[in-house]
Amino acid sequence: MLQPLIDLQQVTYAYPVRPGSAQQESPALRKLSLQIQQGEYVVILGHNGSGKSTLARQCNALLLPDQGQVIVAGMDTRDLASHPAIRARVGMIFQNPDNQLIATVVEDDVAWSLTVLGYSASEIRQRVNEALEAVGIADLRALPPHKLSGGQRQRVAIAGILALRPDCIIADEATSMLDPVSRQEMGKLFARLNRDLGITIVQVTHLLEEAVYAQRIVLMEQGQIVQTGQPGQLLSDIERLRALKLIIPDSLSLAARLRAAGFRIAEDAVTVEQIAREIARE
Ligand SMILES: Nc1ncnc2c1ncn2[C@@H]1O[C@H](COP(=O)(O)OP(=O)(O)O)[C@@H](O)[C@H]1O
Ligand SMILES: [Mg+2]
Repeated sequence: MLQPLIDLQQVTYAYPVRPGSAQQESPALRKLSLQIQQGEYVVILGHNGSGKSTLARQCNALLLPDQGQVIVAGMDTRDLASHPAIRARVGMIFQNPDNQLIATVVEDDVAWSLTVLGYSASEIRQRVNEALEAVGIADLRALPPHKLSGGQRQRVAIAGILALRPDCIIADEATSMLDPVSRQEMGKLFARLNRDLGITIVQVTHLLEEAVYAQRIVLMEQGQIVQTGQPGQLLSDIERLRALKLIIPDSLSLAARLRAAGFRIAEDAVTVEQIAREIARE
């Protein structure tokens, strides 16, 4: 068996309680185990507070386990000396692109980490070009980030990570501030980076409609994984998803109602396009 790129073993983690607080310490992650293989496109799905961001932060050593261990590309996150190497392999983007952009011009922003790490000017130029091409914003390179749309700014943040040539990108609700069209484009970008560049994608979201393009969905609740499976397996049980406080997109609830009424809508039809095709066929 191939060594997983990210291997969480029985991870328990509780945020520190403020001194004097009457609040009980309740773990954000409870004995959670998850293996992510190089090249996978995984969606971590769960309602607010289910522990997704805590899990994501364990994967690039922004948080360390209280119990259990996290191994990234063979390195234990409890080994502090391994943190720079881990973060070069596993990059993270967050909800608000503005907290991640530093420079006054797009290409300088993408070059930032490389500059800090001391790469040569020619190496930086080549990597920045590649990264801007990969996310489709090469034509915006000379603009200041504040002139760009939210979706474009998220692309700048992604390019900044790609320039480091990571194995994996973790996107923590990175699309939730975007409009539905940009959100869908971002999903397609993740799928393309995964397919064409072989980059492992871990997309964290509370939106079911973003989970439909994943190879594997990891469903979270109360700091634990309650189910994992392919979208077709996992998204047909609408009642269960509702019980997990997820909002069911219209397309999925329509498919479920049609099935209940006796129409033959394939269980593995999960995207709007697939469901529309099934309805047209039937
Ligand atoms: N910085 C923090 N300090 C204390 N508790 C936190 C902090 N961040 C998250 N939590 C708590 O940990 C649990 C899991 O949160 P989180 O991982 O952010 O979930 P999600 O990303 O799924 O919304 C929640 O109960 C949340 O209130
Ligand atoms: Mg979160």
